[in-house]
Order: sequence, then structure tokens, then C-alpha cells
Amino acid sequence: MQNRIVVTGVAGFIGSNLAKRLLDRGYAVTGIDNLSAGTAENVDQGVEFIETDIRAPEIHPLFEGADAVFHLAAKTCLPECVNNPLEAASINVVGTLNVLEAARRAKVRKFIYADTSAEYEGINEFPTCEERIQPIGVYAASKHGGATFCESYRHLYSMNVTILRYFNVYGPAQDWRRVIPPVMSSFIIRMLQGERPVIYGTGEKRRDFVYVDDVNDFHLLVLEDQRASGKVFNVGSGINFSVSEVYQLIEGVLMTGLEPIYKPELTGEAEVTLADLGAAKALGWKPRVAITEGLSRTIEYLQSRALKAKASSPGAI
Ligand SMILES: NC(=O)c1ccc[n+]([C@@H]2O[C@H](COP(=O)([O-])OP(=O)(O)OC[C@H]3O[C@@H](n4cnc5c(N)ncnc54)[C@H](O)[C@@H]3O)[C@@H](O)[C@H]2O)c1
Repeated sequence: MQNRIVVTGVAGFIGSNLAKRLLDRGYAVTGIDNLSAGTAENVDQGVEFIETDIRAPEIHPLFEGADAVFHLAAKTCLPECVNNPLEAASINVVGTLNVLEAARRAKVRKFIYADTSAEYEGINEFPTCEERIQPIGVYAASKHGGATFCESYRHLYSMNVTILRYFNVYGPAQDWRRVIPPVMSSFIIRMLQGERPVIYGTGEKRRDFVYVDDVNDFHLLVLEDQRASGKVFNVGSGINFSVSEVYQLIEGVLMTGLEPIYKPELTGEAEVTLADLGAAKALGWKPRVAITEGLSRTIEYLQSRALKAKASSPGAI
């Protein structure tokens, strides 16, 4: 019988890419998502898709007989978390607890939690290793709350938990429909439409960008390699680029001649992120997709999908 994996947040950016990768690898995938941010079109046909909220008691039976859980569903939009901290905590903390409880009751072998580099918001050491954290903002605090319950379940019930702290993941299916989309999608989509890209602040903030396929290589490793159990890993590229450099890279491909518009700084964004990848590399993983390659694949995706969607539904972006 095929091993079955539960992926929460399967209609979102990372979850939808992960589900495809798991199916390709021969796993059966049960995906949960309430479509609050993700879209049904992201979900591969091969996924057993259940549209529901991770806080609902009804999710528990879905975990019976599953071999592992990737818990990715979360409120991920920073401004929404700031505007509605109770909702952020409800989804990212209580929701995580409901997923953990479902996994515990079903005796699921392995639990992988999608944590964030925002855990390092107050730490000014670069590259940043996993040892010390200081979450500050609402999103970071809520993700930390979820991670704390994961650690708690690991200790209380010997649950086999791995925590992954993603840096800036990018690639196809990243949500470009948001009011303020993630930086790369935002630049690409505006420039493809002939609009000037918007830089919040001076453009000097530096981010560690990692391509989603590299992240999925690591997901498979964590799933299949016992050495990853009970550990916390940074998942980044170990290289960072300023927002202005990202603009220049995209402009280098698209050649639009469009100059950025500068708007006031967004609150709660770190000045620098840079992952120390020592722990992940010790397992034999390393990121392989260079930013130039990752960007051209992302541009190709956005050209084919986003602009088509825009054409069929003007005003949707
Ligand atoms: N993308 C990144 O760069 C990044 C960086 C650090 C951490 N992460 C973490 O990785 C995970 C996936 O991120 P993403 O970029 O794919 O985000 P995303 O917003 O694209 O996906 C999250 C998915 O969760 C779903 N969801 C939200 N609330 C839900 C609920 N109550 N019940 C069921 N489903 C719900 C949304 O509809 C969405 O499809 C998140 O946990 C996020 O915190 C992502």
C-alpha cells in the first residue's frame, strides 16, 4: 500500500508545490485547506482534497492511517496578522494544536512543522543559526506559539517532530493576488503589466531567497531520513540579495525600462535575513537553484497564469 501523507495548507504556495512533489515520489496525499488564501486551482488532481478549517474537529479522522503530516496551513500575510492578532493566534497556534492533537490520536509517525525565519527577528547575527530566537511581531509570535506546542508534543508524547524555519521561499504558485504580494511576485507581475514596481523603504533590506524546489528536496529528505527527527533546521539559500538587487535581476530579464516607485517602509520587516545552513547541509542537502534560474522559472509561471487570470477577470490583481 502507498504511504499516505497529510499536507495542511495544500492550496497555498509551498503546500501545493510539495503535494505535487510527493505525488511524483509515489506517495498518496490528503490535503486540507480552507481556501482562505490558497486557491483550488493550485491543488493537483491527484490530491484527496478536503476543504475545511484546520481548527475543525472534523479533521481528526483524516489523519487515521497517515504516515506523516506536513503542517503548512497558517495565516501568512503579515499585515493581516497585525490587523487581526486574535485570528492569527487562533489559526497559527490553536489550529496547529488541533492538527497536532489529530496526529497524536491517530499515532502518525512523523510531524513536520513549517516554522519561519521570523523567529530570528530580534537576533542580529548573520548568518543566523538555529540556536537562538527572538520572535517579535504578531506573525512571528503566533508561529512561535505553534512551534512551542510542537516541542511540547515531542516531549510529552515522544512525537517525532521536525521543525523547519523557512527563509524567503519563492517560485511558481506564490500568491500574487494579495494587496501586498511577496516581493518577487509583486515586482514581476507589475512589470509584466507595464507598471512600475513598488519598493517599500530604500530597497536596501536584504533577504535570503530560496527556490521552492530546493525546499521540497529538503522536505523529502526530512520525511525519509531518520536523522532529521526531533531537530530544527533553517531552510534558506545561505545567500542574500537586497530588494533593489532583486528588482535589477528581474529588470535584467524583462528589460521594461520601468523604474521603481518608493513607498514608506512596511513595519515589522527585518533588515537582514541570512540562513546558516550548517545543520541542513550536514544531512547532505544543499540548495541547487540559483536566483537567476529561479526567477526565470517564476517569470515563466506568472506570464502563463497570472496574466491569463487578469485577462479573464479584469481588476482581480
Ligand atoms: N513562503 C515563505 O517564504 C515562508 C517563509 C517562512 C515560513 N513559511 C510558512 O510556510 C507555510 C506555508 O507558507 P506559504 O507561503 O505556502 O503560505 P500560503 O499563504 O500560500 O499558504 C497557506 C495556506 O494555508 C491555508 N489556510 C490558512 N488558514 C487556514 C485554516 N484556518 N484552515 C485551513 N487552511 C488554512 C490558506 O488558504 C493557504 O492555502 C506557512 O506555515 C508559513 O508560515 C513560509
